[in-house]
Amino acid sequence: GSDAGDERDLVGRHVVVSAGGTREPLDPVRFLGNRSSGRQGVAIAEAALERGARVTLVGANLAVPAPPGADLVPVETAAQLRDAVRAAAKDADVVVMAAAVADFRPVNPSGAKIKKTADGAVPTIELVETVDVLAELARDRLRAGQVVVGFAAETGDERGTVLEHGRAKALRKGADLLVVNAVGEGLGFGTPDNEVTVLDAEGRPVATARGSKRDVAHAVWDAVRPLV
Ligand code: CTP
Ligand code: CA
Repeated sequence: GSDAGDERDLVGRHVVVSAGGTREPLDPVRFLGNRSSGRQGVAIAEAALERGARVTLVGANLAVPAPPGADLVPVETAAQLRDAVRAAAKDADVVVMAAAVADFRPVNPSGAKIKKTADGAVPTIELVETVDVLAELARDRLRAGQVVVGFAAETGDERGTVLEHGRAKALRKGADLLVVNAVGEGLGFGTPDNEVTVLDAEGRPVATARGSKRDVAHAVWDAVRPLV
């Protein structure tokens, strides 16, 4: 609402938020990663704390500090994130998957640093898909009545608009809410401002918000609150 955060409407609730970007090792010093700073997920965690929740923050390589008051569980990889989120979700009322989770990881990370060879041969890196943590949480419901929330950064393309892609993803994931973030044109990764549409499980828009990541975070909690 306009007085974001002045209602302590999450007192007594435990929320789990994943934030940041996972890193999948190629060798002891290199990884496949992404540009997620964790800012939006950290703002989600901060807003939940302001509203009185107990917050577990599963932080993957955060470029920003975790909010004081959150229980931080630091992770690196998608597999570690999955384990940490599922462990914390066992007694959570809400799980928000704001992390950018790798879709693929190297099958066999090298135990030693990959070296150039004299013959100029280039390594081929075989990848395997990671587990979709959000879809799995939505399917398993680790606690009865648990609300599961996903994020999706989308761009429009020749196959559909941002909202069409978001709707298809909402239907595929089975989460209660999907926060669709239009990226490009100065919005999204690494920028202070954000524009989102919150979709329900059927892909119907239930809220929109534009502003600081804090404003967006409170708009997300406003949309979650009726479900918990
Ligand atoms: N997600 C997840 N586990 C994965 C990949 C994604 O839990 N292995 C979650 C993200 O945390 C986010 C949501 O799924 O909440 C959407 O992520 P996104 O990358 O947009 O969706 P994908 O299903 O991976 O589809 P694609 O990247 O192909 O668009
Ligand atoms: Ca993905």
